Amino acid sequence: MQPKQMRQDLDVLTGLGAALGNQIMGQHHVLPQVVEALQDGELGLTDPDRPKGTFLFLGPTGVGKTELTLAFTRHLFGEDHLVRLDMSEFQNQESVGVLLGRNENEVGLIAKRFAAVQGQGTLLLDEIEKAHPRVLDLLLQILDAARVTMANGDTLDLSEFYVVCTSNIAASAMLNARHSVRSTLVRFVESQAQAQLRPEVFARFQTVSVFDRLEYDVQLEIAQHLLDREIFNQRSRSEIKISYDPKLVPFLTGQGVHPRLGVRPLRGCIERFVRRALRENLLGGGKSEIHLTPIEPQ
Ligand SMILES: Nc1ncnc2c1ncn2[C@@H]1O[C@H](COP(=O)(O)OP(=O)(O)OP(=O)(O)O)[C@@H](O)[C@H]1O
Ligand SMILES: [Mg+2]
Repeated sequence: MQPKQMRQDLDVLTGLGAALGNQIMGQHHVLPQVVEALQDGELGLTDPDRPKGTFLFLGPTGVGKTELTLAFTRHLFGEDHLVRLDMSEFQNQESVGVLLGRNENEVGLIAKRFAAVQGQGTLLLDEIEKAHPRVLDLLLQILDAARVTMANGDTLDLSEFYVVCTSNIAASAMLNARHSVRSTLVRFVESQAQAQLRPEVFARFQTVSVFDRLEYDVQLEIAQHLLDREIFNQRSRSEIKISYDPKLVPFLTGQGVHPRLGVRPLRGCIERFVRRALRENLLGGGKSEIHLTPIEPQ
C-alpha cells in the first residue's frame, strides 16, 4: 500500500541513509535519527500543520552540520531548495522588520528568499543562539504552526519545509572533553542549549542531534574523499590522468586540519595542492599523466 501523502520515490527514501553516509563521515550517532525523521516527513507521517521535520544540530565547528543539511536537501529536492539565514545578522530589535517587512508596502526578506525555492525544501538557520529574542519568537511560530505572517498581511506556509537550526553552544566543552562518556557529554550540551535558547524553543525541536568531534581516522577518511573528488572534477576539465602516493592522504590531513576549525580548511588545502601540481605540469609543457606525492619541507 502507498502512503497517502507520499512525496518521493521509494528508492530515494530507502537509499537516503547510504547516500548521506557516503558524504557525511564519522557522525553515525546522528545520521540514523535524522534519516528516520526525513523518511517520516517524506512519507507524510508527520503533522501536516507543522514543518515536515525540525532539527537542532549542535556541535563544534566544521563537523558536518551544514554539510548534512545541504546533502539531504539536495538528495530530496535537487539544487536550489535551501533558504539559509545566518542568525548573527539578526541580533537586534530591527531584525524582525528586516525579516517580515517594516510596513505593508515592504516585502520582508523571508518572503523574498522563499519565493526563490519553489514551494519545498529546507530552511537553515545558522548560529541560532545569536538571534534576537523577538526573532526567536518568530521561530517558535514556525516550529509550532509552519506559518509566518508578513507585514503586508501575506502568510507564508512552511509546511512543505524542513527547519534546521545549528549552534556551537558548548562546543569548547566538546573539544576539550577527551575522555568523557558520550551520553554524559550529550546531556551537558543539550542542557546548555536548553538554557541559552530558552526551554520552550528547545522543546519545539523534534530532533536534537549532537555532532561528534571528528577523530583522526575520520579526518583521514574525509581527506581521501575530498582528494578523490577534486581529482575526479579535474579529470572532467583536463585530460590529464592523476594518481597519488597513499602517503599524500595523511600529509594533506596534517596540512589542512586545524585544531579549532577542524576539517573546515581541508577542502581548500586539497584543491590548492592538486591545482598547483596541474598548473606546474601545464606551464611546464603538459605531461598526460602526473603522480602526486607529499612535498618535503625545504
Ligand atoms: N562529517 C563530515 N564528513 C565529511 N565532510 C565533512 C564533515 N564535517 C565537515 N566536513 C567538511 O568540512 C566542511 C565544513 O563543514 P560544515 O560546513 O558542515 O561545518 P559545520 O558543522 O556546519 O560548522 P559550523 O558550526 O562552523 O557552521 C564541509 O564543507 C566538508 O567539506
Ligand atoms: Mg555550519
